[in-house]
Amino acid sequence: LMTGPVSYWVVIPAAGIGSRMRADRPKQYLPLGDRTLIEQTLDCFLGQPGLNGLVVCLAADDPWWPELACAQDRRIVRADGGQERADSVLAGLQALLARGAGMADWVLVHDAARPNLTQEDLHKLLATLADDPVGGLLAVPVRDTLKCADAQGRVASTPDRSRYWQAYTPQMFRLGALRDALTQALGAGAVVTDEASAMEYVGLAPRLVEGRSDNIKVTRPEDLQWLSRHSKPH
Ligand code: C5P
Repeated sequence: LMTGPVSYWVVIPAAGIGSRMRADRPKQYLPLGDRTLIEQTLDCFLGQPGLNGLVVCLAADDPWWPELACAQDRRIVRADGGQERADSVLAGLQALLARGAGMADWVLVHDAARPNLTQEDLHKLLATLADDPVGGLLAVPVRDTLKCADAQGRVASTPDRSRYWQAYTPQMFRLGALRDALTQALGAGAVVTDEASAMEYVGLAPRLVEGRSDNIKVTRPEDLQWLSRHSKPH
């Protein structure tokens, strides 16, 4: 039964340094097309039906954000990020609660440096998970053969790639469940590189939703060069 668009909140962790880009500023402020990377990323969500509000988690002393036009957008709030990505996301969830979000509301966590998300993939994620008891994430089956390295940089083994996926974002979970999972995982000192791994830590199995492989995260200089040559398919 269709009851209109799924309503959701968005958390954009953007408090990292992005040292692999070797740039003079965090990667989300590098230019892509006519604006910055983070503005292109926010465009994927603004104007979408169902969006309740969006929080951007930034370093407390970030001087670049206030210069952007979207800093004036009333749908967007700024929160101070934390030590690790998971701390930043937790701070974002707190900011959403302060804005009136409910524990059972859906939250989509999406990397600031992933500007090529299509509306089709966003809608596929929302529609696939709308009634899911756990939630899940956009992901892409690995295409290349995988190698596990030893300490000397030689191949130790070749895992069966047929069951491996690359974890992309958005990752979509219920606010209260994600907050509890992140809190538990961080408290135990577990390695939490994405939201799904925190959910896994508490024994849940997030659903993999196959997305486009060009929804890449800008990590290295060549990623930005690649994106600037490929306009987003709409
Ligand atoms: O370094 P990596 O590309 O994996 O970071 C993913 C996202 O998490 C980036 O958008 C980065 O700004 C964010 N992050 C954060 N707080 C941290 C570390 C990373 O919000 N302490």
